[in-house]
Amino acid sequence: MPSAFRRTVRGMRDLLPDEAEKLRYIEMKTRQVARLHGYREVITPVVEHYELLAAKVGEENRKRMYVFKDFGGRMVALRPEFTASVARLVATKMRSFPKPLRLFSVGSLYRYDEPQFGRYREFWQANYELFGSKMPEADAEILELTDNLMKEIGLRNYFFKIGHVGVLRNILSREGVAENQQNSIMQLLDKKQQDDALNLAKNSGVSQTGLNTLRNLLEIRGNDPNKVIQRIAERVKNYSEAKEAIENLSEIIRLAEASGTDAKLVLDAGFARGLEYYTGMIFEIYVPQMDIALGGGGRYDRLIEVFGGGSIPAVGVAPGIDRLALALEQQGTVLHLGEKRKVLVIPVNRELLGEAFRVSSLLKKHGLPAEVEVMGRSVSKALSEADKRGISHAVILGPREVKEGKVVLRHLNKRRQETVDLSKLTESIT
Ligand code: HAM
Repeated sequence: MPSAFRRTVRGMRDLLPDEAEKLRYIEMKTRQVARLHGYREVITPVVEHYELLAAKVGEENRKRMYVFKDFGGRMVALRPEFTASVARLVATKMRSFPKPLRLFSVGSLYRYDEPQFGRYREFWQANYELFGSKMPEADAEILELTDNLMKEIGLRNYFFKIGHVGVLRNILSREGVAENQQNSIMQLLDKKQQDDALNLAKNSGVSQTGLNTLRNLLEIRGNDPNKVIQRIAERVKNYSEAKEAIENLSEIIRLAEASGTDAKLVLDAGFARGLEYYTGMIFEIYVPQMDIALGGGGRYDRLIEVFGGGSIPAVGVAPGIDRLALALEQQGTVLHLGEKRKVLVIPVNRELLGEAFRVSSLLKKHGLPAEVEVMGRSVSKALSEADKRGISHAVILGPREVKEGKVVLRHLNKRRQETVDLSKLTESIT
């Protein structure tokens, strides 16, 4: 038999019921958080023009896209993220929608990443974007929302790594480094190749003073935001725009803390993200048990303009649903996935099948998951199989009981049974 019949494509996963249930549970929480914060859902296609998805995402991400020509000869790709699609909407169909505009999306994404722990070629994200405001309160809202989601799903000891691309970019601009060179330097920093990044800066014409400032900055990080901000501000005092960037970050942090955001903040002056569209605050979510980000986001004020939609500032975040599920697992968190009761209705003979369907339909009308025995098994066989399948209750229909308007209710997990009136059945299933 060809192995294609037996295996998924490398990097692609089947999610069996327990895993699918966990993923959908987290998805449900992301929807709850969207609703509470006023983010309305938009559904965009999985397949988009390559050109749209490739704009401003950075060389690394571009290389990892699933790209192909469709039968109409269009160069298309599977979406590697939501931001480009949502920004396209805001630049076009939703351009005149009143601001602020808060949009939510959730679904599967595709990146040709090297498969490893927490890294898949098909994965799931929830995505929140806030359009129209360039104020620090919008950034703070995104941090608060992210913090609320982490609390809501029961994650512990999470922290946000946070920075501001304006600090390094403004220094590089002042030193005359062109934007595409800046992008390459930021990509190297994202990959933690600091020496290479500094060499490239040097080769791009950055002065010795500039290089010293950059080198010093790359060493500044810590989990006392105010102290770190002071140190950065001290280093960049001769670069007025970099100074503005750090003041902006300071205000964002102040507002996020005031909003009740509990996440520990680790501020890192050399922090960069692979995506090229960021213009301001950037952040990622981590837990101590894992060294991969559980989510990431930041401000991108020029992407809508690139898509022809005028100047609409934006800030957003995308929590990774698969990685959140992994993090909960690593922390040993048991999810409360809802209804645990499941009822199997077993008629003692085939004549009572119609009655069995009536009883199971009554239970479902009361919101109880119920099924009729469909394997033609005897009562004892059906009961022992039900146990293996996690059924909590069995309702046994015999001719005498049915005539009297009664049924036998067996509590499988408690190993006891009782005869109850049909009219009292739903309340007896506890
Ligand atoms: P990103 O950092 O590329 O940002 O992805 C966000 C999250 O998606 C990651 O932190 C991770 O949890 C998850 N993720 C990414 N790649 C994989 C993978 N191969 N396997 C499993 N999970 C993965 C963005 O996508 C931006 N669009 C976020 C954003 C929204 N910025 C502004 N608005």
